[in-house]
Amino acid sequence: MGLIAPRLDVIKPSPSMAVTARAIEMRSAGIDVVGLSAGEPDFPTPPHIVEAAYDAMRRGETRYTSVDGTAALKKAVAEKFRRENSLDYKPSQITVAGGAKQVIYNALLATLAPGDEVVVPAPYWVSYTDIVLLSEGKPVVVPCTEAEGFKLRPRALREAITERTKWLLLNTPSNPTGAVYSRDELAGLAEVLLDYPHVHVLTDDIYEHILFDGRAFHTIAAVEPRLKDRTLTVNGVSKAYSMTGWRIGYAGGPEALIRAMATVQSQSTSNPSSISQAATIAALEGRQDFLRPRTLEFQARRDRALELLRAIPDFTCQTPEGAFYLYPNCSALIGRRRPDGTIISSDDDLSLYLLDRARVAVVQGSAYGLSPHFRISIATSMDLIEKAIGRIAEAVEALR
Ligand SMILES: Cc1ncc(COP(=O)(O)O)c(C=O)c1O
Repeated sequence: MGLIAPRLDVIKPSPSMAVTARAIEMRSAGIDVVGLSAGEPDFPTPPHIVEAAYDAMRRGETRYTSVDGTAALKKAVAEKFRRENSLDYKPSQITVAGGAKQVIYNALLATLAPGDEVVVPAPYWVSYTDIVLLSEGKPVVVPCTEAEGFKLRPRALREAITERTKWLLLNTPSNPTGAVYSRDELAGLAEVLLDYPHVHVLTDDIYEHILFDGRAFHTIAAVEPRLKDRTLTVNGVSKAYSMTGWRIGYAGGPEALIRAMATVQSQSTSNPSSISQAATIAALEGRQDFLRPRTLEFQARRDRALELLRAIPDFTCQTPEGAFYLYPNCSALIGRRRPDGTIISSDDDLSLYLLDRARVAVVQGSAYGLSPHFRISIATSMDLIEKAIGRIAEAVEALR
């Protein structure tokens, strides 16, 4: 009998982290690799948030807190939901965990019985399906093609729902495509969901603040209040406030669910860092004026990256409406030969080729459940984006 439990057979380490790790390895061997695989903003955490952490430590806020967040932080989160999303949650309907990832994990572990189904529109964030599997649920992956704007449409949702469906997972703006659901699009999905009261919605709004071209953000519980008591609205400070290392995510939802999630957390990690919680209060309650310039910087990078990618004859790429990723289609390259004569037969092959030949790290579309594509992160400087796409163009040209 081996040491590792069979439950681990169904999941894999996060592929975007794997590519990043390989790029770091190559770099430490002296190879000049440009990383376009990171899922975190390249901006620093704003100084007033860092100061709030120091202050908390000096005040002695270095002890256990209540399991799913301090009262002060829950109040700040409830206020954020009211101010920014017109969602009214009581503190007892708020939970705080060590990142949005842990929030999602708590929710699925607390609710899925073996075989319960979770509708996951693809392309999806790499962790969704694995968290479902580890919780003994069954991911029901619904492909949402480029032609559909990479978005789940009402008819496809209706077809995916069965008696066993427990959750629909939504993510807007999307990692990896940058697709953003409009109010009408969410209303269309909500109309279907109203017909199926046994289906709950987990909406992952972590890229809420990174929206381009003046687009407005909408979240489903606000668009359709009749869904609010079966929606978990997930968010966090990692992306908007450049706080990936601080590990704070939060959610608002029905009280019974929130309580069950706290039970899971109480027997796993207990409270998220007391210091990070204090910093998060500063993030949510403090000045917000740096958000806009940072988003405009991402937008300028998106525009430049699109221009360069679209100049490569064999790529097409939809315009991302938010987040900090592009998801080019590389179907025209499948079947071509590398200079050594071997064939590129998948987007996995292509991303390995780009790493070896162009020394650019991207993540293969297969990781996100919709091929043949790859994901480029623009959470890096304009210079590096230009250099990387220039190298990708040369590598593509070398294919026959
Ligand atoms: C869509 C999505 N949800 C959640 C997360 C995780 O965020 P956190 O750092 O809060 O765990 C990520 C991070 O890449 C993400 O892309």
